[in-house]
Amino acid sequence: MVIESRSRIVKHLVNRLRDTSVDAAVFRGLLRECARMLLVEAVDTLPVAEKRIDTWQGGFTGEFIDEGNIVCVAILRAALPMQEGVMAALDGVEGGFLAMKRDEESFKSRLYYDRIPDIEDKTVILVDPMVATGGSLHDALTLLRQRAPARIVSLNVIGAKEGVERIERAFPDVDVHIAQIDPKLNKDAYIIPGLGDAGDRAYNTV
Ligand code: PRP
Ligand code: URA
Repeated sequence: MVIESRSRIVKHLVNRLRDTSVDAAVFRGLLRECARMLLVEAVDTLPVAEKRIDTWQGGFTGEFIDEGNIVCVAILRAALPMQEGVMAALDGVEGGFLAMKRDEESFKSRLYYDRIPDIEDKTVILVDPMVATGGSLHDALTLLRQRAPARIVSLNVIGAKEGVERIERAFPDVDVHIAQIDPKLNKDAYIIPGLGDAGDRAYNTV
């Protein structure tokens, strides 16, 4: 299911990301913050566990997010700040990486590197700011699905309507928490209005 955020602060962050006067360091900070906000919106999909801890008042048993059963996977490179945001809030989760690059002529993504810990029966939080044609996210979800996770939750910042609908059709059981769905793609498969190339904006490249 696709869930578009209704939060005013999330929309504020998205619109700041669109602003070309925002420099790379601030851009990465906004992606990090957006991921933390989306994590809050997705929190009910995460596993919880009771844990006993020592406090200044003695032993205490409380409910915690079961970080040991969660893996946060980033699609390089623009998702790195999002992964940092998630792992700052949940410092006990494992991190995984998929290096993917979309070919700018065919618009198909290519996988260069895959470094994902064991995700069998775990919850995967997959992060990538942009869902344009949906090809990269589709390929990442296909790969993850083959490794039998208990659940996959996708956190995304801006998606084009057609790319998001493609993901929803192909993966109806994946919870896609997205900050903003924009209307269309241009002829180069960039999201309109979007924010441009997220990787380039985040890392000062063109
Ligand atoms: C961007 C973005 C997504 C992908 C979306 O990455 O971060 O992964 O494009 O496009 P799609 O939905 O049409 O597949 P890109 O491949 O440009 O790599 P980068 O992060 O290294 O710039
Ligand atoms: N990748 C991006 O970073 N931006 C787009 O609009 C499309 C693909």
